[in-house]
Amino acid sequence: MLKTIFYSSIVMFFFGGVATLTFYRINNQEAPTSSNVKITLTTIANTITNPNIYTYINTTAKVFDLRRMKIASSSLIDTCDLFSGKWVHDNKGRYPLYKEDECPYLPGDFACLTYGRNDSKFQQWRWQPHGCDFPRFDGQAIVEKLRDKRLLFVGDSVNGNQWDSMMCMLHSSILGKKRVSVGGPNGSLSTFKASDYNISVDYYWAPMLVESNEDDPTNHHLDHRTIRIKSIEKHARHWVDADILVFNTYLWWRLPIIKLLESAESLLGGLNQVYDEVDNLLAYKMVLETWSEWVHAHVDLSRTKMFFMGLTATHSRATDWGGKKNEGCYGETEPMMDDQLWESGIDPKMLRILESSLSKLKSKGVNVKLINITQLTQCRKDAHPTVHRNYGVR
Ligand SMILES: *[C@@H]1O[C@H](CO)[C@@H](O)[C@H](O)[C@H]1NC(C)=O
Ligand SMILES: *[C@@H]1O[C@H](CO)[C@@H](O)[C@H](O)[C@H]1NC(C)=O
Ligand SMILES: *[C@@H]1O[C@H](CO)[C@@H](O)[C@H](O)[C@H]1NC(C)=O
Ligand SMILES: *[C@@H]1O[C@H](CO)[C@@H](O)[C@H](O)[C@H]1NC(C)=O
Ligand SMILES: *[C@@H]1O[C@H](CO)[C@@H](O)[C@H](O)[C@H]1NC(C)=O
Repeated sequence: MLKTIFYSSIVMFFFGGVATLTFYRINNQEAPTSSNVKITLTTIANTITNPNIYTYINTTAKVFDLRRMKIASSSLIDTCDLFSGKWVHDNKGRYPLYKEDECPYLPGDFACLTYGRNDSKFQQWRWQPHGCDFPRFDGQAIVEKLRDKRLLFVGDSVNGNQWDSMMCMLHSSILGKKRVSVGGPNGSLSTFKASDYNISVDYYWAPMLVESNEDDPTNHHLDHRTIRIKSIEKHARHWVDADILVFNTYLWWRLPIIKLLESAESLLGGLNQVYDEVDNLLAYKMVLETWSEWVHAHVDLSRTKMFFMGLTATHSRATDWGGKKNEGCYGETEPMMDDQLWESGIDPKMLRILESSLSKLKSKGVNVKLINITQLTQCRKDAHPTVHRNYGVR
Protein backbone atom coordinates (compact mmCIF):
# COMPACT_ATOMS: atom_id res chain seq x y z
CA MET A 1 0.00 0.00 0.00
CA LEU A 2 2.64 2.47 1.02
CA LYS A 3 4.61 1.42 -1.96
CA THR A 4 1.78 2.17 -4.36
CA ILE A 5 1.26 5.49 -2.75
CA PHE A 6 4.84 6.48 -3.13
CA TYR A 7 5.21 5.18 -6.63
CA SER A 8 2.35 7.19 -7.92
CA SER A 9 3.10 10.60 -9.14
CA ILE A 10 2.38 12.94 -6.31
CA VAL A 11 2.29 16.62 -6.40
CA MET A 12 2.15 18.24 -3.05
CA PHE A 13 2.05 21.85 -2.31
CA PHE A 14 2.98 23.08 1.04
CA PHE A 15 2.05 26.47 2.14
CA GLY A 16 4.41 27.00 4.98
CA GLY A 17 4.01 29.05 8.06
CA VAL A 18 4.86 32.53 7.03
CA ALA A 19 3.10 33.89 4.07
CA THR A 20 3.92 37.30 3.10
CA LEU A 21 3.50 39.56 0.26
CA THR A 22 5.25 42.57 -0.51
CA PHE A 23 5.52 45.23 -3.10
CA TYR A 24 5.83 48.77 -2.32
CA ARG A 25 4.57 51.71 -4.11
CA ILE A 26 7.60 53.38 -5.49
CA ASN A 27 7.01 56.65 -7.27
CA ASN A 28 3.39 55.80 -7.38
CA GLN A 29 3.87 52.65 -9.40
CA GLU A 30 3.56 49.37 -7.72
CA ALA A 31 7.09 48.44 -8.39
CA PRO A 32 7.70 44.90 -7.42
CA THR A 33 10.25 44.63 -4.76
CA SER A 34 10.00 41.27 -3.28
CA SER A 35 7.60 39.09 -1.54
CA ASN A 36 7.83 36.89 1.40
CA VAL A 37 5.08 34.40 0.76
CA LYS A 38 6.25 31.04 1.75
CA ILE A 39 4.29 29.14 -0.78
CA THR A 40 6.60 26.34 -1.18
CA LEU A 41 6.03 23.89 -3.83
CA THR A 42 7.31 20.44 -3.68
CA THR A 43 6.99 18.03 -6.45
CA ILE A 44 7.24 14.44 -5.71
CA ALA A 45 7.51 13.21 -9.16
CA ASN A 46 8.02 10.08 -11.14
CA THR A 47 9.45 6.98 -9.69
CA ILE A 48 11.48 6.67 -6.61
CA THR A 49 14.55 4.63 -7.23
CA ASN A 50 16.29 4.96 -3.92
CA PRO A 51 15.42 1.91 -1.81
CA ASN A 52 16.27 3.76 1.40
CA ILE A 53 13.04 5.59 1.05
CA TYR A 54 11.17 2.51 2.23
CA THR A 55 13.14 2.28 5.39
CA TYR A 56 12.47 5.88 5.90
CA ILE A 57 8.77 5.57 5.26
CA ASN A 58 8.56 2.61 7.55
CA THR A 59 10.20 4.28 10.44
CA THR A 60 8.28 7.45 10.16
CA ALA A 61 4.94 6.16 8.97
CA LYS A 62 3.32 7.35 12.15
CA VAL A 63 4.28 10.87 11.35
CA PHE A 64 2.15 10.75 8.25
CA ASP A 65 -1.56 10.71 8.45
CA LEU A 66 -2.44 7.79 6.20
CA ARG A 67 -5.81 9.20 5.26
CA ARG A 68 -4.09 12.27 3.95
CA MET A 69 -1.56 10.26 2.06
CA LYS A 70 -4.26 8.43 0.19
CA ILE A 71 -5.72 11.67 -0.94
CA ALA A 72 -2.31 12.82 -2.00
CA SER A 73 -1.62 9.68 -3.95
CA SER A 74 -4.08 10.40 -6.72
CA SER A 75 -2.18 13.54 -7.54
CA LEU A 76 -3.83 16.09 -5.36
CA ILE A 77 -3.46 18.90 -7.78
CA ASP A 78 -5.56 17.10 -10.38
CA THR A 79 -8.42 16.15 -8.09
CA CYS A 80 -8.73 19.06 -5.71
CA ASP A 81 -8.65 22.82 -6.13
CA LEU A 82 -5.78 23.45 -3.76
CA PHE A 83 -6.09 27.18 -4.17
CA SER A 84 -9.61 27.65 -3.01
CA GLY A 85 -9.41 27.63 0.75
CA LYS A 86 -8.68 29.59 3.86
CA TRP A 87 -5.88 30.28 6.31
CA VAL A 88 -6.15 28.43 9.60
CA HIS A 89 -4.32 29.51 12.71
CA ASP A 90 -2.17 26.65 13.97
CA ASN A 91 -0.18 27.31 17.12
CA LYS A 92 0.41 23.70 18.09
CA GLY A 93 4.13 24.20 17.73
CA ARG A 94 4.27 23.01 14.14
CA TYR A 95 4.90 26.41 12.61
CA PRO A 96 6.97 28.12 11.50
CA LEU A 97 8.62 25.42 9.43
CA TYR A 98 11.98 27.02 10.09
CA LYS A 99 13.23 29.76 12.34
CA GLU A 100 14.57 32.88 10.76
CA ASP A 101 17.81 32.90 12.75
CA GLU A 102 18.46 29.25 11.92
CA CYS A 103 18.42 29.81 8.19
CA PRO A 104 21.72 31.04 6.74
CA TYR A 105 20.24 31.82 3.33
CA LEU A 106 17.60 34.38 4.17
CA PRO A 107 18.34 37.76 2.59
CA GLY A 108 17.68 41.01 4.44
CA ASP A 109 14.60 41.55 2.26
CA PHE A 110 12.80 38.79 4.10
CA ALA A 111 14.39 38.71 7.52
CA CYS A 112 11.66 40.74 9.16
CA LEU A 113 12.32 39.60 12.72
CA THR A 114 15.96 40.62 12.37
CA TYR A 115 14.79 43.99 11.15
CA GLY A 116 12.42 44.83 13.93
CA ARG A 117 9.16 42.99 13.49
CA ASN A 118 8.00 42.22 17.01
CA ASP A 119 4.86 40.10 16.56
CA SER A 120 4.94 36.43 15.69
CA LYS A 121 1.42 35.18 15.05
CA PHE A 122 1.90 35.74 11.34
CA GLN A 123 4.20 32.72 11.32
CA GLN A 124 1.54 30.31 12.49
CA TRP A 125 -0.93 30.01 9.66
CA ARG A 126 -1.61 26.96 7.58
CA TRP A 127 -3.34 27.04 4.22
CA GLN A 128 -6.35 24.78 4.24
CA PRO A 129 -7.99 24.02 0.89
CA HIS A 130 -11.79 23.68 1.08
CA GLY A 131 -11.87 20.37 -0.75
CA CYS A 132 -9.01 18.32 0.66
CA ASP A 133 -6.04 18.09 2.97
CA PHE A 134 -2.46 17.70 2.13
CA PRO A 135 0.41 16.46 4.23
CA ARG A 136 2.57 18.71 6.28
CA PHE A 137 5.91 19.63 4.82
CA ASP A 138 8.44 16.89 5.47
CA GLY A 139 11.95 18.04 4.69
CA GLN A 140 13.54 14.59 4.67
CA ALA A 141 10.98 13.15 2.31
CA ILE A 142 11.44 16.07 -0.04
CA VAL A 143 15.21 15.74 0.07
CA GLU A 144 14.83 12.12 -1.05
CA LYS A 145 12.59 13.12 -3.92
CA LEU A 146 15.01 15.80 -4.99
CA ARG A 147 18.02 13.49 -5.02
CA ASP A 148 19.91 13.83 -8.33
CA LYS A 149 17.54 16.55 -9.44
CA ARG A 150 17.60 20.20 -10.31
CA LEU A 151 14.70 22.34 -9.17
CA LEU A 152 14.72 25.78 -10.74
CA PHE A 153 12.63 28.86 -10.00
CA VAL A 154 12.54 31.39 -12.84
CA GLY A 155 11.08 34.88 -12.73
CA ASP A 156 10.92 37.85 -10.41
CA SER A 157 11.41 38.27 -6.67
CA VAL A 158 8.23 36.34 -5.90
CA ASN A 159 9.98 33.23 -7.14
CA GLY A 160 13.21 34.42 -5.56
CA ASN A 161 11.36 34.29 -2.29
CA GLN A 162 10.15 30.77 -3.04
CA TRP A 163 13.76 29.79 -3.60
CA ASP A 164 14.81 31.32 -0.28
CA SER A 165 11.99 29.52 1.49
CA MET A 166 12.78 26.21 -0.10
CA MET A 167 16.42 26.40 0.99
CA CYS A 168 15.42 27.37 4.52
CA MET A 169 12.84 24.61 4.76
CA LEU A 170 15.27 21.97 3.50
CA HIS A 171 18.30 23.24 5.43
CA SER A 172 17.88 21.15 8.57
CA SER A 173 17.12 18.01 6.56
CA ILE A 174 20.27 18.17 4.50
CA LEU A 175 23.40 16.95 6.21
CA GLY A 176 26.80 17.47 4.71
CA LYS A 177 27.97 20.15 2.35
CA LYS A 178 25.66 22.89 1.22
CA ARG A 179 26.73 25.80 -0.88
CA VAL A 180 25.14 28.79 -2.55
CA SER A 181 26.84 30.29 -5.58
CA VAL A 182 26.02 32.88 -8.18
CA GLY A 183 26.61 32.60 -11.92
CA GLY A 184 24.93 32.99 -15.29
CA PRO A 185 24.73 36.26 -17.22
CA ASN A 186 25.47 39.12 -14.83
CA GLY A 187 24.82 36.89 -11.85
CA SER A 188 21.24 36.05 -12.79
CA LEU A 189 21.55 32.42 -11.76
CA SER A 190 21.76 31.55 -8.08
CA THR A 191 22.46 27.96 -7.19
CA PHE A 192 22.09 26.03 -3.98
CA LYS A 193 23.91 22.72 -4.07
CA ALA A 194 23.76 19.87 -1.62
CA SER A 195 26.59 17.78 -2.97
CA ASP A 196 26.06 14.60 -0.95
CA TYR A 197 22.61 14.33 -2.47
CA ASN A 198 23.43 15.80 -5.86
CA ILE A 199 20.58 18.24 -5.37
CA SER A 200 20.52 21.62 -7.01
CA VAL A 201 17.86 24.17 -6.09
CA ASP A 202 18.26 27.22 -8.29
CA TYR A 203 16.77 30.60 -9.02
CA TYR A 204 17.11 32.56 -12.23
CA TRP A 205 16.30 36.25 -12.21
CA ALA A 206 14.31 37.06 -15.37
CA PRO A 207 11.49 39.26 -14.09
CA MET A 208 9.87 39.59 -17.51
CA LEU A 209 11.08 36.22 -18.82
CA VAL A 210 12.27 37.76 -22.08
CA GLU A 211 15.19 40.19 -22.26
CA SER A 212 14.32 43.44 -20.55
CA ASN A 213 15.89 46.54 -19.06
CA GLU A 214 15.22 44.98 -15.64
CA ASP A 215 17.51 42.01 -16.21
CA ASP A 216 20.29 43.11 -13.92
CA PRO A 217 19.61 41.12 -10.75
CA THR A 218 20.74 43.90 -8.44
CA ASN A 219 20.34 47.15 -10.33
CA HIS A 220 16.77 47.39 -11.64
CA HIS A 221 13.60 49.19 -10.52
CA LEU A 222 13.61 51.45 -13.54
CA ASP A 223 10.57 53.61 -14.11
CA HIS A 224 9.86 52.26 -17.57
CA ARG A 225 9.86 48.83 -19.13
CA THR A 226 11.73 48.16 -22.30
CA ILE A 227 11.85 44.62 -23.58
CA ARG A 228 12.71 42.44 -26.53
CA ILE A 229 9.46 40.57 -26.78
CA LYS A 230 10.80 37.68 -28.86
CA SER A 231 14.16 37.22 -27.16
CA ILE A 232 14.11 34.60 -24.48
CA GLU A 233 16.96 32.30 -25.46
CA LYS A 234 19.72 34.23 -23.69
CA HIS A 235 18.02 33.47 -20.38
CA ALA A 236 16.25 30.27 -21.26
CA ARG A 237 19.31 28.31 -22.25
CA HIS A 238 20.09 28.22 -18.52
CA TRP A 239 16.77 26.52 -17.78
CA VAL A 240 16.72 23.51 -20.08
CA ASP A 241 18.19 20.80 -17.92
CA ALA A 242 16.00 21.35 -14.87
CA ASP A 243 13.83 18.50 -13.63
CA ILE A 244 11.31 20.82 -12.06
CA LEU A 245 10.74 24.28 -13.48
CA VAL A 246 8.67 26.88 -11.68
CA PHE A 247 8.03 30.08 -13.61
CA ASN A 248 6.45 33.37 -12.70
CA THR A 249 6.08 36.79 -14.22
CA TYR A 250 3.41 39.35 -13.43
CA LEU A 251 4.29 42.35 -11.28
CA TRP A 252 6.61 43.97 -13.76
CA TRP A 253 3.84 44.10 -16.36
CA ARG A 254 1.65 46.40 -14.34
CA LEU A 255 2.73 49.69 -15.84
CA PRO A 256 0.18 50.83 -18.45
CA ILE A 257 2.70 50.94 -21.29
CA ILE A 258 5.48 48.55 -22.23
CA LYS A 259 8.08 49.47 -24.82
CA LEU A 260 8.95 46.79 -27.35
CA LEU A 261 12.35 47.26 -28.92
CA GLU A 262 12.33 46.80 -32.64
CA SER A 263 15.95 46.17 -33.26
CA ALA A 264 17.77 43.25 -31.80
CA GLU A 265 20.93 45.36 -31.86
CA SER A 266 19.88 48.37 -29.86
CA LEU A 267 20.92 48.31 -26.24
CA LEU A 268 18.11 47.82 -23.78
CA GLY A 269 19.26 50.76 -21.73
CA GLY A 270 20.55 52.83 -24.63
CA LEU A 271 19.52 56.16 -26.07
CA ASN A 272 17.70 56.82 -29.34
CA GLN A 273 15.91 53.54 -29.29
CA VAL A 274 13.23 52.69 -31.79
CA TYR A 275 10.36 51.00 -30.06
CA ASP A 276 6.65 50.28 -30.21
CA GLU A 277 4.55 51.14 -27.24
CA VAL A 278 1.91 48.60 -26.41
CA ASP A 279 -0.46 48.34 -23.52
CA ASN A 280 0.55 45.96 -20.81
CA LEU A 281 -2.21 43.41 -21.42
CA LEU A 282 -1.13 42.95 -25.00
CA ALA A 283 2.51 42.78 -23.98
CA TYR A 284 1.69 40.20 -21.31
CA LYS A 285 -0.11 38.08 -23.87
CA MET A 286 2.80 38.39 -26.28
CA VAL A 287 5.44 37.45 -23.75
CA LEU A 288 3.51 34.38 -22.73
CA GLU A 289 3.36 33.41 -26.41
CA THR A 290 7.14 33.73 -26.68
CA TRP A 291 7.55 31.72 -23.51
CA SER A 292 5.06 29.07 -24.67
CA GLU A 293 6.88 28.61 -27.94
CA TRP A 294 10.12 28.16 -26.08
CA VAL A 295 8.65 25.65 -23.64
CA HIS A 296 7.04 23.72 -26.48
CA ALA A 297 10.23 23.57 -28.51
CA HIS A 298 12.87 23.09 -25.82
CA VAL A 299 11.61 21.38 -22.70
CA ASP A 300 12.00 17.62 -22.49
CA LEU A 301 8.57 16.66 -21.23
CA SER A 302 9.65 13.18 -20.25
CA ARG A 303 12.09 14.69 -17.79
CA THR A 304 10.80 18.07 -16.68
CA LYS A 305 7.72 18.98 -14.66
CA MET A 306 6.55 22.55 -15.01
CA PHE A 307 4.57 24.99 -12.91
CA PHE A 308 3.59 28.62 -13.27
CA MET A 309 3.08 30.79 -10.23
CA GLY A 310 0.06 33.04 -10.73
CA LEU A 311 -0.70 36.63 -9.77
CA THR A 312 0.33 37.82 -6.34
CA ALA A 313 -1.38 40.37 -4.17
CA THR A 314 0.42 43.56 -3.25
CA HIS A 315 -1.45 44.77 -0.14
CA SER A 316 -0.70 48.31 -1.12
CA ARG A 317 -4.19 49.77 -0.58
CA ALA A 318 -5.62 49.40 2.89
CA THR A 319 -9.03 50.53 1.59
CA ASP A 320 -9.29 47.11 -0.09
CA TRP A 321 -9.85 45.59 3.34
CA GLY A 322 -11.62 48.48 5.01
CA GLY A 323 -8.49 50.30 6.15
CA LYS A 324 -7.51 53.94 5.80
CA LYS A 325 -6.94 55.77 2.57
CA ASN A 326 -3.32 56.10 1.43
CA GLU A 327 -2.16 53.37 3.74
CA GLY A 328 -0.74 49.95 3.00
CA CYS A 329 -0.32 46.94 5.23
CA TYR A 330 2.22 48.31 7.71
CA GLY A 331 1.24 47.19 11.21
CA GLU A 332 -1.25 44.53 10.05
CA THR A 333 -1.06 41.46 12.27
CA GLU A 334 -4.04 39.34 11.18
CA PRO A 335 -4.92 37.80 7.83
CA MET A 336 -8.14 38.51 6.05
CA MET A 337 -10.71 35.80 6.24
CA ASP A 338 -12.94 36.97 3.42
CA ASP A 339 -12.10 34.66 0.55
CA GLN A 340 -14.24 36.63 -1.87
CA LEU A 341 -12.10 39.70 -1.59
CA TRP A 342 -10.35 40.90 -4.71
CA GLU A 343 -7.71 43.62 -4.49
CA SER A 344 -8.46 46.64 -6.61
CA GLY A 345 -4.92 46.56 -8.01
CA ILE A 346 -5.18 43.11 -9.56
CA ASP A 347 -6.53 43.05 -13.08
CA PRO A 348 -8.45 39.80 -13.51
CA LYS A 349 -7.80 40.08 -17.25
CA MET A 350 -4.15 39.28 -16.59
CA LEU A 351 -5.13 36.08 -14.84
CA ARG A 352 -7.37 35.16 -17.79
CA ILE A 353 -4.45 35.75 -20.16
CA LEU A 354 -2.20 33.49 -18.11
CA GLU A 355 -4.87 30.78 -17.80
CA SER A 356 -5.55 30.87 -21.50
CA SER A 357 -1.84 30.64 -22.38
CA LEU A 358 -1.50 27.59 -20.17
CA SER A 359 -4.55 25.91 -21.62
CA LYS A 360 -3.29 26.54 -25.16
CA LEU A 361 -0.06 24.84 -24.21
CA LYS A 362 -1.99 21.99 -22.69
CA SER A 363 -3.88 21.44 -25.94
CA LYS A 364 -0.47 20.92 -27.54
CA GLY A 365 0.35 18.27 -24.95
CA VAL A 366 2.48 20.50 -22.74
CA ASN A 367 1.27 20.48 -19.17
CA VAL A 368 2.30 23.48 -17.09
CA LYS A 369 0.35 23.59 -13.86
CA LEU A 370 -0.91 26.88 -12.53
CA ILE A 371 -0.09 27.62 -8.91
CA ASN A 372 -3.05 29.88 -8.46
CA ILE A 373 -1.92 32.02 -5.57
CA THR A 374 -4.01 35.15 -6.05
CA GLN A 375 -6.60 34.51 -3.39
CA LEU A 376 -4.32 32.99 -0.81
CA THR A 377 -1.84 35.82 -1.08
CA GLN A 378 -4.57 38.44 -0.93
CA CYS A 379 -5.65 37.15 2.45
CA ARG A 380 -2.22 37.66 3.99
CA LYS A 381 -2.08 41.39 4.54
CA ASP A 382 -0.37 40.58 7.86
CA ALA A 383 2.55 38.82 6.27
CA HIS A 384 4.29 41.60 4.40
CA PRO A 385 7.73 42.68 5.67
CA THR A 386 6.88 46.35 5.05
CA VAL A 387 9.71 48.33 6.71
CA HIS A 388 11.19 45.33 8.48
CA ARG A 389 13.79 44.50 5.91
CA ASN A 390 17.12 45.49 4.53
CA TYR A 391 17.48 45.25 0.79
CA GLY A 392 20.44 43.57 -0.76
CA VAL A 393 21.83 42.16 2.47
CA ARG A 394 22.36 38.44 2.70
C1 LIG B 1 8.58 -2.07 8.30
O1 LIG B 1 7.97 -2.27 9.53
C2 LIG B 1 7.43 -3.57 9.72
C3 LIG B 1 6.67 -3.63 11.04
O2 LIG B 1 6.88 -2.50 11.82
C4 LIG B 1 8.56 -4.59 9.64
O3 LIG B 1 8.04 -5.91 9.76
C5 LIG B 1 9.29 -4.46 8.32
O4 LIG B 1 10.40 -5.31 8.27
C6 LIG B 1 9.75 -3.01 8.10
N1 LIG B 1 10.30 -2.87 6.76
C7 LIG B 1 11.44 -2.25 6.52
C8 LIG B 1 11.86 -2.14 5.11
O5 LIG B 1 12.11 -1.75 7.42
C1 LIG C 1 6.01 46.58 17.93
O1 LIG C 1 6.23 47.30 16.74
C2 LIG C 1 5.27 48.29 16.46
C3 LIG C 1 5.60 48.93 15.15
O2 LIG C 1 6.04 48.01 14.21
C4 LIG C 1 5.23 49.31 17.58
O3 LIG C 1 4.20 50.24 17.31
C5 LIG C 1 4.99 48.63 18.90
O4 LIG C 1 5.10 49.57 19.95
C6 LIG C 1 6.00 47.52 19.13
N1 LIG C 1 5.62 46.77 20.34
C7 LIG C 1 6.52 46.42 21.23
C8 LIG C 1 5.98 45.63 22.40
O5 LIG C 1 7.70 46.66 21.12
C1 LIG D 1 23.33 14.55 -10.54
O1 LIG D 1 22.09 15.07 -10.93
C2 LIG D 1 22.02 15.42 -12.28
C3 LIG D 1 20.66 16.04 -12.51
O2 LIG D 1 20.53 17.26 -11.81
C4 LIG D 1 22.21 14.19 -13.14
O3 LIG D 1 22.20 14.55 -14.49
C5 LIG D 1 23.53 13.54 -12.79
O4 LIG D 1 23.64 12.32 -13.47
C6 LIG D 1 23.62 13.29 -11.30
N1 LIG D 1 24.97 12.82 -10.98
C7 LIG D 1 25.22 11.70 -10.33
C8 LIG D 1 26.64 11.41 -10.03
O5 LIG D 1 24.31 10.92 -10.01
C1 LIG E 1 25.42 42.45 -18.24
O1 LIG E 1 24.93 43.74 -18.03
C2 LIG E 1 25.45 44.71 -18.92
C3 LIG E 1 24.94 46.07 -18.45
O2 LIG E 1 23.61 46.00 -18.04
C4 LIG E 1 25.03 44.37 -20.34
O3 LIG E 1 25.56 45.32 -21.23
C5 LIG E 1 25.55 42.97 -20.68
O4 LIG E 1 25.05 42.61 -21.94
C6 LIG E 1 25.08 41.97 -19.65
N1 LIG E 1 25.73 40.73 -19.91
C7 LIG E 1 25.05 39.63 -20.19
C8 LIG E 1 25.85 38.41 -20.45
O5 LIG E 1 23.84 39.61 -20.20
C1 LIG F 1 -7.60 31.00 -9.80
O1 LIG F 1 -8.12 31.60 -8.66
C2 LIG F 1 -9.07 32.63 -8.90
C3 LIG F 1 -9.52 33.17 -7.58
O2 LIG F 1 -8.44 33.68 -6.90
C4 LIG F 1 -10.25 32.07 -9.69
O3 LIG F 1 -11.12 33.12 -10.01
C5 LIG F 1 -9.74 31.40 -10.95
O4 LIG F 1 -10.82 30.77 -11.62
C6 LIG F 1 -8.70 30.34 -10.61
N1 LIG F 1 -8.16 29.80 -11.85
C7 LIG F 1 -8.05 28.52 -12.07
C8 LIG F 1 -7.50 28.10 -13.39
O5 LIG F 1 -8.36 27.68 -11.25
